[in-house]
Amino acid sequence: MTDIPLLTLNDGKRMPQLGFGLWQVPADSATEVLRSALDVGYRMIDGAFAYRNEASIGEALRQSGLARDEVFITTKVWNADHGRDRARAAVERSLEAIGTDRLDLILIHWPVPSRDLYVDTWQALIEARDAGLVRSVGVSNFNADHLDRIIAETGVAPALNQIEINPGLQQPELRAANAERGILTQAWTPLGNGRSFAAAPIVAAAERCGKTPAQVILRWQIQLGNAVIPRSVNPSRQAQNLDIFDFDLSDDEMSAIATLDTGLRTGPDPSVFRLV
Ligand SMILES: NC(=O)c1ccc[n+]([C@@H]2O[C@H](COP(=O)([O-])OP(=O)(O)OC[C@H]3O[C@@H](n4cnc5c(N)ncnc54)[C@H](OP(=O)(O)O)[C@@H]3O)[C@@H](O)[C@H]2O)c1
Repeated sequence: MTDIPLLTLNDGKRMPQLGFGLWQVPADSATEVLRSALDVGYRMIDGAFAYRNEASIGEALRQSGLARDEVFITTKVWNADHGRDRARAAVERSLEAIGTDRLDLILIHWPVPSRDLYVDTWQALIEARDAGLVRSVGVSNFNADHLDRIIAETGVAPALNQIEINPGLQQPELRAANAERGILTQAWTPLGNGRSFAAAPIVAAAERCGKTPAQVILRWQIQLGNAVIPRSVNPSRQAQNLDIFDFDLSDDEMSAIATLDTGLRTGPDPSVFRLV
């Protein structure tokens, strides 16, 4: 089975660099999909209340026979649950849905600046951590100004900021902003909906390394230092996406992939996204 590197977060906790994303996996098949992901070797799961499949995490874990502490479980507080009381209730609801007494990591899913409740929400997550309900706390889709505000108002920097990164949207400034604050960058939609699979630098590296375009892109993410959470409902692609630790991209290949940045998102802009 593949040895997935462990990264140390700014609170001293350790997390696999590569995990499995659960967005858009239908609830009625999510347990089976996740069982297969655990069987092929994933040990970190990226869930969210908003994905409507949190219960599959606990169910797949129980079916797998793995011990709870062998799998790193992340979930997220949705936009409708911002605010101190609602966020605390959301943490407890996710614990119950997953069927565990402690999460490894919980994230604020989006900052929703128009509601201006993300500082209160952050405070609630810190309190949940201090109460032992969750080991680490982090954010998702936060820009540098959002990060600075929660750090200034609470003194606690997130362990991780999960943001959209793929060859078409590389976000070098935000990655640097995370790093300057001791925050790990985790890449969502790491494969970019396949939009760079046919790009010349990806194809050339794939041919040289005997790998697929998806594997080259995931390897590029790993060499940038990002944590990464690809999703596939297909067991052979699940295995393929784990099989990226036996080759290296050269400096020239990394530089060539850097030229594919278009600055165009596949998802919403966090500074204005406000869906509840
Ligand atoms: N925080 C946020 O706001 C946020 C937003 C979006 C996503 N996320 C997280 O990030 C995770 C990953 O992002 P994502 O689910 O959008 O997309 P992704 O992992 O970048 O790509 C998934 C798509 O790529 C296909 N795929 C996977 N492996 C492949 C391979 N080796 N070759 C060819 N195609 C492949 C999958 O199809 P098959 O299933 O058919 O293989 C699926 O259509 C999500 O599941 C979620 O956990 C977070």
